[in-house]
Amino acid sequence: MTIEVRDKTPSDQVWVEETLTGAWGSTKIAVRGRVFDAAALPALIAGDCAGLATYEIDRGRGEAELVTLNALTPRRGIGTALVEALAARLLATSIGVLRVTTTNDKLDALRFYQRRGFRLVAVRPGAVDEARRLKPSIPLLGEHGVPMRDRLELVRDLASSTANALPPGLALATMVPELYVSDLDASRRFWCDLCGFIVAFERPEDRFLYLDREGCQIMLEEGAAPGRRWLTGTLEQPFGRGMNLQIAVDDIAPILSALEAADWPLFLEPEEKWYRAGAREIGVRQFLAQDPDGYLVRFSQRLGLRPAAAMARS
Ligand SMILES: CC(C)(COP(=O)(O)OP(=O)(O)OC[C@H]1O[C@@H](n2cnc3c(N)ncnc32)[C@H](O)[C@@H]1OP(=O)(O)O)[C@@H](O)C(=O)NCCC(=O)NCCS
Repeated sequence: MTIEVRDKTPSDQVWVEETLTGAWGSTKIAVRGRVFDAAALPALIAGDCAGLATYEIDRGRGEAELVTLNALTPRRGIGTALVEALAARLLATSIGVLRVTTTNDKLDALRFYQRRGFRLVAVRPGAVDEARRLKPSIPLLGEHGVPMRDRLELVRDLASSTANALPPGLALATMVPELYVSDLDASRRFWCDLCGFIVAFERPEDRFLYLDREGCQIMLEEGAAPGRRWLTGTLEQPFGRGMNLQIAVDDIAPILSALEAADWPLFLEPEEKWYRAGAREIGVRQFLAQDPDGYLVRFSQRLGLRPAAAMARS
């Protein structure tokens, strides 16, 4: 069963405060010498208020701190759903490290985190005794009747954890257009089956695909699917008016053959064209086609360089 995870909204605030106070005695949480008001932090909520994760992002360091994590009913997958949803959200905003701190009595949590890709990076003997001075409500005895004294620091390297590993050899491009599409399956057939892109990774829950074709990358996302969308106007076909996406390929012939076999219309038949760039001309063989929503795609095969015609004459 999939456990849905969503961001905290203002209407959750009372429940968040009650949950934190119930689990931790207060909304004030001491982590590595700092006291967070966890109720004021961004948070994720699992299912129908079945679990809560609060966290803080440090963009400067590219890190996040998981400040609290609670599953109201343990061993149902709630903790895992929260951690994985947080990891995915952080990765999507280029945060590569997730830190968490726990205490020496939390044997279940220690197993839980290590089995979810966290590594122990530090043990601070006596740190809980120190924290108790900042927050006297920290009890002396913890889980299993173990005296709570020491702090354990764990880190999960989000970018390199196996579950999130990118396909071998894939380097993310520095500029990647993201296209809203009306039918992700139809778009996938066009971009992958006919145009030779591969799915580098996907998020079916967001109706999202990240495609790669020899370093040329594009993101596709269903415009009407749930979740956040950045739309500047009504989506009306043809989408993407006033622009075309130039895609450099070694050879346009296989793509042309696949499009022809699928009876896919071309917007511009293949042509040879030379474009001036300074004192030279860059030659390409190119054609244009529209994807299922009308986005204009220009496949371009380099032919080489030659002196610019005007320069050659002078
Ligand atoms: C630590 C904590 C957040 C884990 O959350 P959780 O919801 O119990 O975690 P999960 O259910 O995802 O996973 C726990 C175990 O239950 C198992 N599990 C999950 N669903 C299950 C099911 N339906 N039936 C049986 N076992 C199940 C998981 O495989 C996992 O086992 P593993 O750790 O050996 O891999 C939770 O125990 C908790 O709230 N503890 C108190 C607060 C705390 O200690 N917080 C963390 C310290 S900062």
